[in-house]
Amino acid sequence: MIQALRGMKDILTPENERFVHIIETASQIARRYGYDYIETPLLEETALFKRSVGESSDIVGKEMYQFVDKGGHDVCLRPEGTAGIVRAFIQHKLDKKGGVHRFYYHGPMFRYERPQKGRLREFHQFGCESFGEASVYEDFTIILMIRDIFDALGIGYTITINSLGCPECMPGYRETLVAHLHDIRDGLCDDCQRRIDTNPIRVLDCKNESCRTLLQASPVIAENLCEACDSDFVRLQQLLKSHGIDYRLDPKLVRGLDYYTRTAFEFVSDEIGAQSAIAGGGRYNRLVEFLGGKPTPAVGFALGIERIVDLVKLPQKGREGIYLGVMEPQALETILTIAQARRRHERVYVEYAKRSLKAHLKAADRLGAKLCAVIGEDELKHSQIWVKDLETKEERRIGVEAFA
Ligand code: HAM
Repeated sequence: MIQALRGMKDILTPENERFVHIIETASQIARRYGYDYIETPLLEETALFKRSVGESSDIVGKEMYQFVDKGGHDVCLRPEGTAGIVRAFIQHKLDKKGGVHRFYYHGPMFRYERPQKGRLREFHQFGCESFGEASVYEDFTIILMIRDIFDALGIGYTITINSLGCPECMPGYRETLVAHLHDIRDGLCDDCQRRIDTNPIRVLDCKNESCRTLLQASPVIAENLCEACDSDFVRLQQLLKSHGIDYRLDPKLVRGLDYYTRTAFEFVSDEIGAQSAIAGGGRYNRLVEFLGGKPTPAVGFALGIERIVDLVKLPQKGREGIYLGVMEPQALETILTIAQARRRHERVYVEYAKRSLKAHLKAADRLGAKLCAVIGEDELKHSQIWVKDLETKEERRIGVEAFA
């Protein structure tokens, strides 16, 4: 039997209801914050991800679903959403238009990682990207929005933040860091040793215990920021504090994608095991320009839907909709007419086969319908329908015309 690929999942009942609830809740909140929906292709030129996410990142270096298509183009299934949206932003000349543009999106992302709990090869993100607003108030507002989303979904979290500086302060910091890393080089794992030359900042993120111990004394980015980056980082923390939002400073939070400048953050859950990041994001002021657009400040985030789908608390829902059935096959036409009329405003289930009343009631109950409506021999004679409210248990007979 052919099975789904490793690390890829079907989403069926009952998970599907929580999955849709996450997307609907997050979309509604994003719209309240001024975001509009954007859809971009799942497949993009490989060069887009190499240039944005970064050649030295694991995502691009090891995890891309990359292939040459029939036209000889080097293409890639998107490993994340930001790069494609920046490409669309530039392609549709929104960078030239100026002003602020805010987009939200959701959909599948693909990373050829080693699958484990909370880590899939095809997974789904909900994300937001805000273009044209340089103020740190926008970073703060995005954190507020994510908080609103998780609160609405009944999900607990810890917020961790860091600043990744800018081209003004990062080169100096990188030099200090590389000098320090060379001092401890021999004790570091192979990956870290390689990264000293390719992407030294990512060394800070190593999960290897002995590297982590060695790295404890590393110079801290947040203590090496230029004045502008430092003042934004201080302001962000003041805003969080004054709004009563708890956060933890994490000097080792460097994110797995290379495009970030200044604010970086993650929302972490302690309820889901090792893959604990449920959302991540930050500012990426250089990316639009780097991909050929007019310099435009930007900030965004994405949350992992599969990481939270088991934690979501669905709102209490009563019975819903109507179940229609027949005990006489001649009544089926009438039932179909009623179904069409009622579908305009509610969920309708129709059973085409003739069944006993008991069987219809059982089926309606199993489907969670509020009303079970059936036409039997006697109802057929009098152009009536028998209706039972499965919540109140009330039963009555109504004229078909009045019911449709
Ligand atoms: P990211 O941190 O790579 O950021 O991914 C965001 C979230 O996607 C993670 O926090 C996690 O919940 C989920 N996720 C990542 N990889 C997997 C996986 N293999 N299986 C299941 N869930 C996963 C980004 O993708 C950035 N584009 C976020 C962003 C938007 N930054 C600025 N704008």
